Amino acid sequence: MDKMVNILTHPLIAHKLTIMRDKNTSVKDFRECAHEVALLIGYEATKDLILSDHEIETPITKTIGKTIEKQVALIPILRAGLGMVDAMMDLIPAAKIGHIGLYRNEETLEPVEYYCKLPTDIAKRQVLVLDPMLATGGSAVAAINFIKKRNANNIKFCCIIAAPEGIKVLREAHPDVEIFCGALDEKLNEHGYIVPGLGDAGDRLFGTL
Ligand code: PRP
Ligand code: URA
Repeated sequence: MDKMVNILTHPLIAHKLTIMRDKNTSVKDFRECAHEVALLIGYEATKDLILSDHEIETPITKTIGKTIEKQVALIPILRAGLGMVDAMMDLIPAAKIGHIGLYRNEETLEPVEYYCKLPTDIAKRQVLVLDPMLATGGSAVAAINFIKKRNANNIKFCCIIAAPEGIKVLREAHPDVEIFCGALDEKLNEHGYIVPGLGDAGDRLFGTL
C-alpha cells in the first residue's frame, strides 16, 4: 500500500469497530463508537498540521509555544459523515464546516448530489473530508471534485472503513489526497456494500433501518 493510504491499526479502533460491526449494537452505542473512532482518526489525520511560533508568558517565564497556522475545514458527506463531525470539532473547535449532500443511487451505485455549501475561504484551509464508508469510491471522488472546483488543494479523506475498490478509485482520481481509515475490509458485495463492513452507516447512525 502506498504511503498516501494510512490504515490505522490502533487497538482502541479495532475494539470499537467490533462493536460497530455487530448488528445487535444499539444506535446509541454505534453513534458513540463512531464518535470515538473519528477522534482517533482525527488525531492521526492532523499529525502534520503546520505550526507557527507564538510567544506567551507562563506563570514562571516567557516562552515560545506552538499554534496551528493553517486553518481547517471539515466537510462531512451527508448524511453519514455527520457522525464524525462532533469528534473532529472536539479536536479542532475553530474549524469551519462545509456540507456536501450525496446519496448513492441504489441501482447504479452512482452518487447523486443534493446539497453543497462550503466555506468561502476553503482554498486557504486544510480540508478534512469525512465519510465513514469508502465503498466504490464514487461518493468520495464526487465530493472531492466539488471541493477542488473551489480551489482547495490541501485535502485529506477520513473514513472508518474502506474497501480496496474504493481506495483504488479514489487514489486514481485524486492522487494528491491522503486517505486515513480505521480498517481496510475485504471487498464489496454485489450491492456495493463493504464486506464484512457494518451495513449502511447512515441507517445505523440515525436509526433509519
Ligand atoms: C454511504 C456512505 C458514503 C457512500 C459510500 O452513503 O456514507 O457516502 O455510501 O459509497 P460509495 O463509496 O460506493 O460511493 P449513502 O449513499 O448510503 O447515503 P446516506 O449517508 O444518506 O445514507
Ligand atoms: N455505504 C454504506 O453505508 N455501507 C457500505 O457498506 C457501503 C456504502
